[in-house]
Amino acid sequence: MLRRIVVFAAWLIVLAIAVPTLAAQAKLDAEGHEWWQHAVFYEIYPRSFADSNNDGVGDLNGITSKLDYLRQLGVDAIWITPCFPSPQVDFGYDVSDYENIDPTYGTLTDFDRLVKDGRERKIGIILDFVVNHTSDQHPWFLDSKSSKNSFHRDWYIWRDGRGPGEPPNNWLSTFGGSAWKFDATTGQYYYHYFYAQQPDLNWRNPAVEKAMFDVTRWWYKRGVVGFRLDAVDALFEDPNLRDNPLLPGKNQFGDPNMLRKYNTNLPELHKVLMGLRTIADESNAVLIGETWTKDVEGLKEYYGKHGNELQMPMDFLFTQVNRVSAPDFRRQIAAIDSSGVWPVYLLSNHDIVRSYNRYGDGKNNDAIAKLMAGLYLTLRGTPIMYYGEELGMENNDPKRKEDVKDPIGKTGWPREKGRDGERTPMQWNDSANAGFSTVAPWLPVDPNYKTHNVESEGKDPDSILNFYRKVLALRHTEPALIEGKYVALNQNDPNVLSYLRQYKDQAVLVVLNMSGTAQRARFDLAKQGFGKGAPTALLTTIKPEPLSIETIEMPPFGVYIARLTQ
Ligand code: GLC
Repeated sequence: MLRRIVVFAAWLIVLAIAVPTLAAQAKLDAEGHEWWQHAVFYEIYPRSFADSNNDGVGDLNGITSKLDYLRQLGVDAIWITPCFPSPQVDFGYDVSDYENIDPTYGTLTDFDRLVKDGRERKIGIILDFVVNHTSDQHPWFLDSKSSKNSFHRDWYIWRDGRGPGEPPNNWLSTFGGSAWKFDATTGQYYYHYFYAQQPDLNWRNPAVEKAMFDVTRWWYKRGVVGFRLDAVDALFEDPNLRDNPLLPGKNQFGDPNMLRKYNTNLPELHKVLMGLRTIADESNAVLIGETWTKDVEGLKEYYGKHGNELQMPMDFLFTQVNRVSAPDFRRQIAAIDSSGVWPVYLLSNHDIVRSYNRYGDGKNNDAIAKLMAGLYLTLRGTPIMYYGEELGMENNDPKRKEDVKDPIGKTGWPREKGRDGERTPMQWNDSANAGFSTVAPWLPVDPNYKTHNVESEGKDPDSILNFYRKVLALRHTEPALIEGKYVALNQNDPNVLSYLRQYKDQAVLVVLNMSGTAQRARFDLAKQGFGKGAPTALLTTIKPEPLSIETIEMPPFGVYIARLTQ
């Protein structure tokens, strides 16, 4: 007996040593950072990136052909929005087969080539996992709706109406109208948080969980390095289907405003995230979340109580700072940076108006685009860029209802014009269709492609593109930008946002004039130990470069990034 106890104890010791060693393998550096903490992510909307077969819609081979461009830009991982088979009602966010590629975008062989060519250039592939719902054409749903006794019936959420012609409760689809659709075959309603063609999966059913978890395993084996999880907050619904409380006023679809108390953010979703994370960890993969929250506290929950859920929940609160304002950004950065988690910053995506328009003042847009890059690409945290942002691409919203492609733009016109504007083709050069395709693309290119395109900007040392290249190169080489903590400076300055990234005896000073008038910034960093040496400018839009940091004259929207030594 004693011998058994001794052997068991010895095993426990071996395990205790082995487990941290395995985990430690994933760490990159002395700070305990993992690969995704040093990576720059880049979101690609595949319909609009590069069209290799000239049918007007982008494809995977198009992306593969642009990997060198991305490498040169300084991108380490690309997140591709859904490219799986889909009826394309929501342009891919209605998946009818999770383990294949839509013919519009290519084949699995094309995908494998993308992974391989990406690997050779040290660019990882992140797929978009639509976890909340499938397409109504997915075989699971077709079977589910066929009869009340079908094998997949309980894979979706079916309920009787409250009465004749009355849905089970008052929940509204976030894309307009009731969230319930009556299906005559079985005389019941099914639930859809988004379009009716996107029925919600029933995550309370263990078979759904297993099938979906297996999907991630399948793609990890094919070489993906992570997933962006779509609409995670909508995963669970109150089993009793309690009515949501109504709020005053109406939304862009003319529906009453409501608090989505009983159909978003239910605590049950955290167990699913933990499960997905356990599988991701086996492949050293990363999980990014589409995590809209009302505050940092809400966002923190997505990291998991023990850091065991999403590594990268996106901070959409940052995108809600909708004006170029030093105090507003200072407050937002401080809130997330001091909360003990690893921040994930972005300026826009395929659902949000492009940053060029949101922050531009119409006169200094290019300078402001550089300013915003100088901000979010020098912060402590991982950035996720949106394709074309590095060029100063802008929204090209439809002018007429009949031109709208995004269904929410059709339903909500004119208050809601849909998301076509931020999804237009990537601007490669100044030839027809911006070099995206030889035929008319599925969405019209923005007229600014004549000046704002990869080829022209590549030749101009002062272009937005070259600013991005330089700041991304710094992110990969300056130890203080890689590892350093965020130290806010001159916190009462209403116009100039300044901070240090400090790592041991090294520091990078970032000074951003967030106003349209010239400003003077003064620094006394003796306390931080950086008082003496002259600064080394790393990247700046101000001329002449200051000789000391005591007084820096900042032109409107100027950027000054410099290395300081002790
Ligand atoms: C997410 C996607 C959005 C899509 C929706 C439904 O919000 O980002 O584009 O329409 O989910 O899948």
